[in-house]
Amino acid sequence: MESSKTRVESEGNPAAPPDAPEGAAPAPPRGADAPGVPRRKPPPHLWREGEVEERSRERAARLPREAPLLEIRGLRKAFDGRTVLDGVDLAVGRGEMVVVLGANGSGKSTALRCVVGLAEPDGGSVMLGGREIGGVRGAQLVAARRQAAMVFQQIHLVRRRSALDNVCCGALGRLPLARSVTPALFPRGLREEGMACLDRVGLADRAADRASRLSGGQQQRVAIARALCQRASVILADEPVAALDPAAADQVMALLRSLAHDEQLAVAAVLHQPPLARRYADRLVGLLDGRVAFTGAPEEVSTAQIEALYAPEGGLL
Ligand SMILES: Nc1ncnc2c1ncn2[C@@H]1O[C@H](COP(=O)(O)OP(=O)(O)OP(=O)(O)O)[C@@H](O)[C@H]1O
Ligand SMILES: [Mg+2]
Repeated sequence: MESSKTRVESEGNPAAPPDAPEGAAPAPPRGADAPGVPRRKPPPHLWREGEVEERSRERAARLPREAPLLEIRGLRKAFDGRTVLDGVDLAVGRGEMVVVLGANGSGKSTALRCVVGLAEPDGGSVMLGGREIGGVRGAQLVAARRQAAMVFQQIHLVRRRSALDNVCCGALGRLPLARSVTPALFPRGLREEGMACLDRVGLADRAADRASRLSGGQQQRVAIARALCQRASVILADEPVAALDPAAADQVMALLRSLAHDEQLAVAAVLHQPPLARRYADRLVGLLDGRVAFTGAPEEVSTAQIEALYAPEGGLL
């Protein structure tokens, strides 16, 4: 069976996901992909902590110079006259894992929701794959937004359907309507692609299980596989590990980071756990009252800067 890695590599540009814009520069060869270097690595969840941090620094140094896959500029949003996003800038490059931190109500979810069309911005711009989506309408807008997939804390799987059916649902947006009505009509090629996506998240052996029979961590990985089946090049994860135990949280974070680093996706995750953010992010972004308070590599962001996010009156309690 073809793996998702194989699918990506079989489409001309070895580093580009299927929806990458034409002409996107290929990423430089990664260590394991360089000629003469054996392609062997343990599954992401088996990496030791030090290795994870080392890889993060390596990746930051190797990011390709091209338009970010996701770029938000000057995003503004108000609800009932109350400003929630006050000129937010956020860029996530191919192969990059960004973690957004911020107190409850600071606007993190709203910013992500504006990217996928779950909220309508009042101002600013959102670019996906180097293309501004503000002026795009109709089917083109739907196609443009499909470049980004959202993964939620409340996982949103169809509980009575199999893991594989749930993953294949990621492709519904590009299927003819008749094929979308019932999973029995999912084309064979799609089911194979869904299996490859499940394999990528380490759950091929649970394909036939109902979603409701999987653990929270497994369900979240199925949701991530669904995003892969959507062929999204940008993954937005809103508190993806909030309901998971520490081991499952590590596994999901390692998976998301591996998708950024190994599959060359752009990943933005919202977290409420600064230590986890430091461990897995290439870059941290702090949101305070709808504005970006800081952005930088984990080693460039101080503990005091992070603590200040959670002391909204301007001083620590
Ligand atoms: N649909 C809506 N209608 C009215 N107000 C909203 C709506 N969505 C969000 N808000 C408000 O916008 C502000 C920011 O909400 P948002 O969900 O983006 O915060 P957040 O940073 O994700 O917080 P949390 O960490 O609690 O998830 C909050 O005050 C919230 O009440
Ligand atoms: Mg939120």
